[in-house]
Amino acid sequence: MTFDALAIRKDFPIFQRTIRDGKRLVYLDSGATSQKPQSVIDAESDFYRIHNAAVHRGAHQLAEEATDIYEGARETVAAFIGAKVDEVVFTKNATESLNLVAYAMGNAPVGNRFHLASGDGIVVTEMEHHANLIPWQQLAARTGASLSWFEVTPEGRLDLSKIDSVINERTKVVALTHQSNVLGTINPIAEIVKRAHEVGAVVVLDACQSVPHMAVDVKSLDIDFLAFSGHKAVGPTGVGVFWGKSELLSELPPFLTGGSMIETVTMTGATWAPAPKKFEAGVPNMAQAAGLGAALKYLSNVGMEQIHQHEIALTSYLLDKLSQVDGLKIVGPTSMESRGGSISFTFGDIHPHDLGQFLDSQGIAVRTGHHCAWPLNRKMGVVATTRASLYLYNTLEDCDALVAGVNDAHRYFAR
Ligand SMILES: Cc1ncc(COP(=O)(O)O)c(C=O)c1O
Repeated sequence: MTFDALAIRKDFPIFQRTIRDGKRLVYLDSGATSQKPQSVIDAESDFYRIHNAAVHRGAHQLAEEATDIYEGARETVAAFIGAKVDEVVFTKNATESLNLVAYAMGNAPVGNRFHLASGDGIVVTEMEHHANLIPWQQLAARTGASLSWFEVTPEGRLDLSKIDSVINERTKVVALTHQSNVLGTINPIAEIVKRAHEVGAVVVLDACQSVPHMAVDVKSLDIDFLAFSGHKAVGPTGVGVFWGKSELLSELPPFLTGGSMIETVTMTGATWAPAPKKFEAGVPNMAQAAGLGAALKYLSNVGMEQIHQHEIALTSYLLDKLSQVDGLKIVGPTSMESRGGSISFTFGDIHPHDLGQFLDSQGIAVRTGHHCAWPLNRKMGVVATTRASLYLYNTLEDCDALVAGVNDAHRYFAR
């Protein structure tokens, strides 16, 4: 199949509408959430219209159909990231997946490999989204473990020059983002995983900005845990994925407890069902999982490699055009080496919020602010940025519209 972004746009009903008095929608905010194709909307609504019942429980046909759809979605996710089916846990989003693993480690008793105490170390990076920073800060505070981090260079890359001392014999967990939601930087996972495993630490990968945009295979990355959100991967809101190696999931204590996650229960205690059920207490987000299954099938049909190449072409084009705008400063790598399609920038003394509002008046949707990465903004010496984030349905015309919008904003605010 040849890649055709215009044909892809036709699969997404939202592009049929106009914005701000009849303007074409230029959606450059997929880093926050992506748009949804009709097949995803149908899968979610069909679940409610035709199949709705509680999975794993009922003795009737609807429950059987619902269970098949829900478990079918798990198989689709597993195939998409190269995992075993029972290693895939549905959560509500990446934030919950990351909290799940951090809280579960906090629940680990003495003798469990995930037990943390004073003297142990947790390593993160300065470019983490708050979702992959605060749960680790909290875990450190609860257990007495120390939190340390890789710094970010002025170009927006991880500084790995001190990797052997940052990840050391005391390190138990290394949690980092695959691709920065602000800078677009794709991190050198292999080198970090190698060092982490040398000292016996596990690697938790926040793949929120990578799984939707490039082929991600958990086996070849050799990571231990991974998290992503359905809604950034053309799927519905309310569903995320937590993945872990099966031998680790069997040792990891549960996070939420209650129905569906148990093996036996007495008045004084309980034992746990094996993963993934151990981590899916209560009636789960069934319709959303159905939608996520449809989303990943949609992305697979288009082809992850083709999506990635399309985004590289657009990012390279847009970086080049934006770097020619006087007064505009890219925050993050300006070369295409290990870089994805999130482009953050400042523009002279125009505040990003003013710029965002001006662009919106032209039908162009961007994100402005600190992008839930406050420490990173401080490190890069900015209070806020404007961010354009690209996806499979964007075109060169969208990139041109942004550049024209930025130039118009310059004229408007200079008045
Ligand atoms: C890198 C990264 N991690 C985590 C998250 C949190 O995702 P969610 O809000 O869907 O849980 C985001 C969302 O923007 C993100 O970009």
